[in-house]
Amino acid sequence: MLLAMMVAVAGGQVVAELPDPFLKPDGTRVRSRREWPAQRRRLLETILHHQYGPLPPKGSKVTGDIVGQRAAPDGLGEVRDVTLSMGPHGVVKVRLMLAIPAGKGPFPVILDGDLGWDRLNDAFVTLMLKRGYILAAFNREQVGPDSADRKGVYEAWPEYDGGRLSAWAWGFHRTLDYLLTLPEVDGKRVAVTGHSRGGKCALLAGATDERIAVTAPNNSGCGGAGNYRFYDDKCETLEAIVQRFPYWFHERFADYVGNVQRLPFDQHTLKACVAPRALLSTEALGDLWANPKGTQQTYQAAKEVYAWLGVPDRVGIRFRPGKHEHGLADFETLLDFCDVQFFGKAVSRHFDALAFPDAPKVWSWTAP
Ligand code: GCU
Repeated sequence: MLLAMMVAVAGGQVVAELPDPFLKPDGTRVRSRREWPAQRRRLLETILHHQYGPLPPKGSKVTGDIVGQRAAPDGLGEVRDVTLSMGPHGVVKVRLMLAIPAGKGPFPVILDGDLGWDRLNDAFVTLMLKRGYILAAFNREQVGPDSADRKGVYEAWPEYDGGRLSAWAWGFHRTLDYLLTLPEVDGKRVAVTGHSRGGKCALLAGATDERIAVTAPNNSGCGGAGNYRFYDDKCETLEAIVQRFPYWFHERFADYVGNVQRLPFDQHTLKACVAPRALLSTEALGDLWANPKGTQQTYQAAKEVYAWLGVPDRVGIRFRPGKHEHGLADFETLLDFCDVQFFGKAVSRHFDALAFPDAPKVWSWTAP
């Protein structure tokens, strides 16, 4: 109750720059690293309250039925088709594709929620398996439809009022519950990813679940890794996204239409909530709608928190030329990042190159 009141008050102030992630609701600042876990929880609470709404309750134990199985191309492993049962009494049924390398595990995992888009064909399976990773891809639209329809978790819990991005983030967590029951899975090395709206919810999933070691939104832009306060002409804005996709968010988020500077956080705050765990955003220079420059700014601002926590190299950004897509090249970038984070491997790619070196610094706070 007290926290909810403080959250509401914080929402009243005008902050023109990217808000200070070290600021506590009582107006004082975090002073030591030991305070970070509590501060992270407060920031998440604020972000969920004003933007996405809560995640659904945990529900019953997630189970999986293997309904199909085939050999992966070139003898690289096997591909399972699994039906997951989650939610109250397992009533929410979600399809999961699970590609597992041959040989002795356990293996690190790339967990993706975009199966419903039907783009993860055998070329993606082959890439993952060759690199020694499990590819686990579930259909987030069975957790909650990509529309205002109240199916999936909304039918299972009629009172549930979180937006789709929260419901989908929950889908990542429940799929992970199942993965962690499998002997093939290395539970300490799980990365979550997704494209665009799928990247927005992957970022939220990673920020809200400490079991996730790497969080990797791709071209996620507005509502994801891009910032709300600073954007160019061609970028999606808070107004545009709330108008077209109100159901992705909590109803309260509409209060910030025309009022973005009263938002008590920006998306660097959500990124910081992943810290000290690893975070990579992959961006396309031609994807102006997704605000690549504003995404660089959230990266730089979040990096202040990572550096303060002593892990500056756990946050990365990678720009490529080209358009809005989540292609093989983006997955290769992610696998390189995971190889570094999970196994300390040396790779030739850098994850700190700025595409907009002259972009202004849009915050004035410094780490404590
Ligand atoms: C729309 C939407 C974006 C979203 C994208 C996608 O363009 O405005 O916010 O990221 O769809 O999911 O592909």
